[in-house]
Amino acid sequence: MKLQIILVILLTIIAYPLKAQSEQNCLSAGCHDTFMKAKNIHPALEDGCESCHDQISQNHPKGKGNEFKLTEDKSELCFDCHDEPDEKLMTHEAFAGGECISCHSPHSSNNPSLLKSGNVGELCAKCHDVINKENMVKHGPAVSGQCNVCHEPHQSANTALLKEEPPQLCFNCHESNKEMLKLPTVHGAYEGSCTECHNPHDSKYEFLVKEAIPNLCLECHDDMGEEFKSAKVVHKIINQDKSCTSCHSPHASKTETLLLKEGKDLCFSCHNKEYKDEDRTLANIYKIVTESKYPHEAVADGDCTDCHFPHSSNNFYLLNSKFPFGNYVKGADPKNFSLCFECHESDALKLEKTTSATNFRNGNINLHYLHISKNKGRNCTLCHNIHGSNNPHIIADKVQFGKWQMPLNYKATENGGSCAPGCHGKLKYTR
Ligand code: HEC
Ligand code: HEC
Ligand code: HEC
Ligand code: HEC
Ligand code: HEC
Ligand code: HEC
Ligand code: HEC
Ligand code: HEC
Ligand code: HEC
Ligand code: HEC
Ligand code: HEC
Ligand code: HEC
Ligand code: HEC
Repeated sequence: MKLQIILVILLTIIAYPLKAQSEQNCLSAGCHDTFMKAKNIHPALEDGCESCHDQISQNHPKGKGNEFKLTEDKSELCFDCHDEPDEKLMTHEAFAGGECISCHSPHSSNNPSLLKSGNVGELCAKCHDVINKENMVKHGPAVSGQCNVCHEPHQSANTALLKEEPPQLCFNCHESNKEMLKLPTVHGAYEGSCTECHNPHDSKYEFLVKEAIPNLCLECHDDMGEEFKSAKVVHKIINQDKSCTSCHSPHASKTETLLLKEGKDLCFSCHNKEYKDEDRTLANIYKIVTESKYPHEAVADGDCTDCHFPHSSNNFYLLNSKFPFGNYVKGADPKNFSLCFECHESDALKLEKTTSATNFRNGNINLHYLHISKNKGRNCTLCHNIHGSNNPHIIADKVQFGKWQMPLNYKATENGGSCAPGCHGKLKYTR
């Protein structure tokens, strides 16, 4: 036992100067000793320089090069000791081709895994130009050169050498996005892959989206794109600001149609102010609905989408059914007012005389019929403020008549009412 130990020690002592001498040749001070000063040294160096370099001329170190050649072609050399690519996996061309030394130092390095740069992105940039400087938006991990948090450098079972396929790849860092899968409605596209909409590296557009919105959305929702081309009115917001995403979450939401807010609150997030431009003013609907003494019940208890389409329409003001534009209308045909008569009885308009179809009558003379049945019939909006009013029966205070805000001076009485608009002097009706 003791003898064996002594033998080993003896052999080590004898062998040491021999090995040291051969290394001393190459690694002695002033020669290639710098290799040994780095933090990480390739274990292959322990087997001597000869495992990779064959001396082919005795001129070294005096010669001017060409005194050594690699023991094998560069593309084969490293595979002498390292595993060949696994054929079952996708292989990076740079790895299969044995271009190991474009990324690794064969000798030593201060970086982990003998990498030639501490910034992996710099290595990749030798062959790939994935980040366009002109693109304003850049993905943090890519622009900081951490390509290998998403990509395997050698081989992978996934497309594009990814460590994992999206969405899981993305969820690894964007954890809150994974939580969204638990919401009641998840966007069909979100269940697929994040890269349907996002670029992984950079983009011209905010949030790394591949295309500006709405085009991004219309690529899949192409039927809507067609609708917009032919529609008479497209909701202006669709071509402004955040477009589709001012109302929809692109990922998931509590509502069936991925809305950011429910019901009227969605519309009120913008229509809580007047919109004014040269040729028209859109009223502050929020104010009318919340501050009027008599909001139209259809608005107060219902939804804006009971009367309006959210995207586009062939009716003015995005109405979802027919309603006349302007102050006058030809004839009292209920079809022209189908929007109203989805909920109200059209007899109020059809019968010249009635004691029941409407309360807007003088005795049995139907004043709705009287006002509307003429060639120049009055539109409902000449008397009613559709969203709400401080007068009973949502009778407007004032209506637009050309540039004049015409007052109606309506007063309800127990059995009828009176008004003194700009159209005629004060008149009253009693049922
Ligand atoms: C694992 C294989 C391997 C081992 C071991 C190895 N080398 Fe190299 N060496 C290479 C490769 C590959 C190149 C790059 C050749 C090229 O770029 O064409 C290289 C290049 C060199 C060069 C020229 C360029 C440079 O990087 O300075 C020198 C000098 C060199 N080796 C010295 C040594 C010495 C000294 C040892 C032993 C201490 C050694 N090598 C051990 C693989 C090896
Ligand atoms: C003579 C055998 C041999 C050759 C040839 C060889 N290696 Fe190695 N290499 C090793 C051994 C042994 C290790 C340590 C065990 C391991 O990680 O596989 C190693 C480790 C490495 C490591 C990991 C280092 C670390 O710190 O994690 C890299 C990178 C590497 N080799 C690159 C190369 C490259 C590039 C070449 C070709 C220029 C090459 N090797 C050629 C034997 C060799
Ligand atoms: C495109 C650059 C690139 C090329 C080419 C490349 N590697 Fe690597 N290699 C890396 C990076 C980056 C790592 C660090 C792995 C990580 O992300 O953790 C690495 C790690 C390694 C390691 C240590 C960890 C491991 O995977 O075992 C070895 C050994 C290695 N490479 C050998 C090689 C060999 C041999 C070749 C050529 C056949 C090669 N590499 C080609 C970039 C490269
Ligand atoms: C020595 C040149 C070279 C270097 C360095 C290099 N690559 Fe490659 N890479 C290639 C070539 C060649 C291809 C195949 C042609 C192509 O798709 O551009 C490729 C393809 C790829 C692909 C596409 C694979 C696929 O199947 O779609 C990815 C991803 C990739 N490289 C990532 C990287 C990353 C990450 C780095 C840095 C760690 C890197 N490359 C460094 C040469 C290189
Ligand atoms: C956040 C994860 C992530 C990071 C970081 C990342 N990539 Fe990618 N990369 C991807 C994804 C995902 C794809 C696949 C895109 C697709 O399917 O459309 C991809 C595709 C690629 C491709 C092939 C297709 C193309 O766009 O040319 C190359 C090459 C590539 N990446 C190189 C790089 C380089 C180089 C870096 C570092 C500068 C990098 N990647 C950083 C996720 C990433
Ligand atoms: C390694 C971690 C990591 C991975 C993996 C990753 N991201 Fe990121 N991502 C970040 C960081 C860090 C930011 C910058 C966050 C910030 O500025 O607040 C970011 C930003 C973003 C942004 C822009 C957010 C904003 O507020 O402008 C989007 C969109 C995004 N990532 C999508 C993705 C997608 C899609 C994937 C999968 C292909 C992915 N990310 C994978 C780390 C990651
Ligand atoms: C249908 C297209 C689409 C898909 C699919 C998609 N996104 Fe987005 N994503 C967007 C849009 C658009 C925005 C900008 C949202 C905004 O304006 O509020 C965004 C914003 C983001 C942001 C930054 C803001 C935030 O919500 O934190 C991250 C991170 C993000 N997406 C990650 C992902 C991930 C991870 C996936 C895959 C699981 C994914 N996205 C799938 C379109 C999409
Ligand atoms: C990659 C294709 C794709 C893109 C891009 C896309 N969607 Fe979708 N969208 C779908 C699919 C698939 C469905 C589910 C099937 C359906 O209802 O048509 C869906 C459904 C919807 C729904 C209805 C939700 C439901 O469950 O009824 C809304 C709202 C929606 N998308 C809005 C958007 C918005 C906003 C964008 C742009 C930010 C967008 N989509 C981009 C594919 C896409
Ligand atoms: C002003 C808010 C708003 C904007 C902007 C908006 N939507 Fe919608 N969207 C809605 C509402 C509200 C619904 C639900 C309609 C209903 O339930 O009657 C809806 C429904 C949908 C639906 C499902 C039902 C259908 O009509 O097919 C899809 C898909 C959709 N929107 C896509 C989009 C896309 C794509 C954009 C951008 C081009 C967009 N939306 C812009 C409010 C909006
Ligand atoms: C009962 C049907 C109905 C409901 C419900 C309804 N609207 Fe209207 N809306 C109309 C009609 C009819 C017009 C056109 C007549 C007019 O000029 O007032 C209109 C016009 C508008 C206008 C533009 C013209 C203006 O009045 O200044 C906006 C904006 C509007 N509505 C928003 C909304 C919002 C927001 C909601 C939900 C809070 C809503 N509407 C609910 C029927 C309705
Ligand atoms: C993100 C802001 C935003 C949201 C949310 C929004 N709108 Fe609008 N809406 C606008 C803008 C901007 C206009 C155009 C104003 C102008 O003409 O200057 C407009 C115009 C309208 C018009 C007049 C259409 C025309 O051009 O004739 C109606 C009606 C309307 N919105 C109804 C709605 C309804 C109903 C909702 C809820 C489903 C809604 N809006 C949600 C911003 C919004
Ligand atoms: C979605 C259903 C619905 C639609 C569409 C609708 N309304 Fe109404 N409206 C109601 C409800 C419900 C009431 C309250 C009950 C009642 O008085 O009939 C009401 C009340 C009224 C009143 C006040 C009645 C009173 O005596 O206080 C007027 C005026 C009115 N609506 C006019 C209209 C006009 C004009 C239209 C078409 C632009 C219209 N409505 C469209 C549901 C609707
Ligand atoms: C000339 C003014 C005027 C016009 C035009 C007008 N209304 Fe009226 N409407 C009234 C008055 C006044 C009342 C209140 C009657 C009462 O209860 O004393 C009323 C009441 C109503 C009511 C409550 C039920 C009823 O009939 O008593 C509804 C619904 C209604 N109007 C719908 C409409 C519709 C729809 C139109 C357009 C087709 C319209 N109105 C046009 C003045 C008008």
